[in-house]
Amino acid sequence: MVKIGIIGCGKIAQVRHIPEYLQNERAQIVGFYDRSEQRAQEMVKKYGSKIYHSYEELLEDPEIDGVSVCVANHLHAQVTIDALKQGKHVLCEKPMATTMEDAKKMVAEAQKAGKKLLVGHNQLLTPAHKRAKALIEEGLIGEILSFRTTFGHGGPESWSIDPGPNTWFFKKDAAAMGAIGDLGVHKIYLIQHLIGQKITEVTAKLVTLDKQDASGQPIALDDNALCIYEMERGVVGTMTASWTYYGAEDNSTILYGTKGIMRIYDHPEYSLEVILKAGEKVYYDLESIQTNEQQTKSGVIDEFIESILEDRETVLSGEKALATMGVVFASMESSRTGKTVTVKNE
Ligand SMILES: NC(=O)c1ccc[n+]([C@@H]2O[C@H](COP(=O)([O-])OP(=O)(O)OC[C@H]3O[C@@H](n4cnc5c(N)ncnc54)[C@H](O)[C@@H]3O)[C@@H](O)[C@H]2O)c1
Repeated sequence: MVKIGIIGCGKIAQVRHIPEYLQNERAQIVGFYDRSEQRAQEMVKKYGSKIYHSYEELLEDPEIDGVSVCVANHLHAQVTIDALKQGKHVLCEKPMATTMEDAKKMVAEAQKAGKKLLVGHNQLLTPAHKRAKALIEEGLIGEILSFRTTFGHGGPESWSIDPGPNTWFFKKDAAAMGAIGDLGVHKIYLIQHLIGQKITEVTAKLVTLDKQDASGQPIALDDNALCIYEMERGVVGTMTASWTYYGAEDNSTILYGTKGIMRIYDHPEYSLEVILKAGEKVYYDLESIQTNEQQTKSGVIDEFIESILEDRETVLSGEKALATMGVVFASMESSRTGKTVTVKNE
């Protein structure tokens, strides 16, 4: 049994972490902390267990083996490092950290502590992405030449547990990144995983097209990110992340190979479609991806618990998330300087 403390009881904790721990027979939630005591109290009322009055108090509880870090972005690194120092395993939400230096410190601290550090990159575990990875490895679409991947929806201000334009997602000091850190991070992680190559060169434009803060001013963060990525063995592609795809979410990835095309979450009925060079089409009817409105089981919590109990490597490791953050920061730098930037992960 792995005993868990929840740090941050907002939306992602409530729709993903808490329900998936409750479904896992080898996990038990020991207690909750949120800076809103009332919110943490609501969790205790609903699910039992205890309330902590600071995250430090939670981390000092010897009963706790692991924690979910579900607070705003700027706190991920500090809370994770403190948790690892207290000998806890950590499942931290994405984006892993707000600086590369902090992301590296998190990985180093996990290695020093000999504890697991996972980052909540749930997209890797969806049925269509898992099947896509297997089919790519079997060589179904040949060698991949190029790709386009996108993740966009109408923005986080209606998602957050504290909704509206005053959300922390729109504040630079709390979020540090806009759509690139909120949504782009998922696709960067995914595309490197699917193709099995790291992104090495980035040309990007991050813009603020529509989102406004509570005072009616444009937010000081990107609400759209448009990026060209080049990979270590020459694959090139585009990644777009957007908070202004109003009306419907787009979570699609298209891979163009020497033997055909693979479209993931792009067909209205089939989550995976392969079109071979001669025109033959193959459809795979797999479960659809989680959307803001429709949350299905992500599998992230099971992966966290199993990787602890089996003491094994995981596709959601801090090291892999670090390679994603290198691309995020390179994209931000490219947009700032107007130049192509080489990704630095070391
Ligand atoms: N993996 C995914 O697909 C996914 C989806 C959504 C959010 N997230 C990430 O999860 C994290 C939380 O996002 P959310 O959607 O739950 O946001 P939210 O606004 O719904 O909730 C944030 C919670 O954190 C609490 N909080 C803020 N500062 C705190 C502090 N100093 N100490 C303790 N609690 C504090 C707030 O009171 C609130 O309950 C973010 O980093 C976000 O990027 C990941």
